[in-house]
Amino acid sequence: MLLEEVILWTRACFTAIVASVNPFVENTIIVINGQQVDAKTASIPVFDRGFLYGDSLYEVARTYGGKALFMSEHLDRLFESAKLARMQLSQSKEEYRRQMEASIQAFRALPGQSQSEAYCRIIVTRGAGKIGFGLNCVMTPTQYVILTQKLEPPSAEQFQKGFKYRVVERFRNHPNATDPAMKSGNYLNSLLAFLEAGDGFDDALLCNADGHLTEGTTFNIFYVKNGIVVTSPLDIGILDGLTRRATLELAKKLKIPVREVRFPKERLYEADEVFMTSTIKEVFPVTKVDQHTIAKGKPGPITEKLNQAFRKEVQTWLA
Ligand code: PDD
Repeated sequence: MLLEEVILWTRACFTAIVASVNPFVENTIIVINGQQVDAKTASIPVFDRGFLYGDSLYEVARTYGGKALFMSEHLDRLFESAKLARMQLSQSKEEYRRQMEASIQAFRALPGQSQSEAYCRIIVTRGAGKIGFGLNCVMTPTQYVILTQKLEPPSAEQFQKGFKYRVVERFRNHPNATDPAMKSGNYLNSLLAFLEAGDGFDDALLCNADGHLTEGTTFNIFYVKNGIVVTSPLDIGILDGLTRRATLELAKKLKIPVREVRFPKERLYEADEVFMTSTIKEVFPVTKVDQHTIAKGKPGPITEKLNQAFRKEVQTWLA
């Protein structure tokens, strides 16, 4: 069988599976290698290296008023990740951007979605080909999928409650292993950390092998003590979060002192406030870490100030 036939055959099998569990693909726009396809039957070949090896990269952007925030920064980070992964991307930044923005427009054109905010994820894989690690096994250019659907940010009630996190035993990847600075599609370590957090917790925080806090499964982490905002430094091995960057800038602008230093998990237990940052959740309070209640279980004043400042500044960043 030719590779192309294998790909077609596996695509057909996958299509049948996806079509039978389709509720989660409703109101979703899928673009594969520049072609919009029916989300219900969209599929990737099993010979794709993203599927075989997690040999892929991704970015998640979100919109405000239908406009994607930090699009250039997301694409710069995608290209940085590609460098770290030694991946030759098949499209230019401008082309990925054009297609992501077009897919957001297509999503907002769906019935009932004209006022919805969008979650827009781009996944790029090294391509499909023969089994084997060598680049000579790769028989296609990098493949990409753009998935756009309704954004589901946490509610105002959830904000008041804050998140409950567990510091798990599992370590964050060492920068000399799968470098956390590279936003690769291989999130198995983080997924296992999430599962380890278990019942009663919303998510997991990971330390490195030296016992220093790094970040959460899909977010950066901060604490506040005596009016000073503290977060782990980039060189500890974390993702250079765009919301983290923006929050540090805002803190400086608001004359709130910030420190990027290594710290053990006990600092969180004794903190006045703890908060997390990510594209989807912006600046969001954490009210419990392991068995310790933080800030009497409510969002702290600096967390609220930074959250409001972030939301206000979005309009300037989008302009
Ligand atoms: N997660 N750290 C990790 C490991 C992440 O995966 C993310 C992003 C962040 C925050 O980065 P940013 O502020 O640029 O979103 C930190 C995205 C949102 C996700 O996986 O859905």
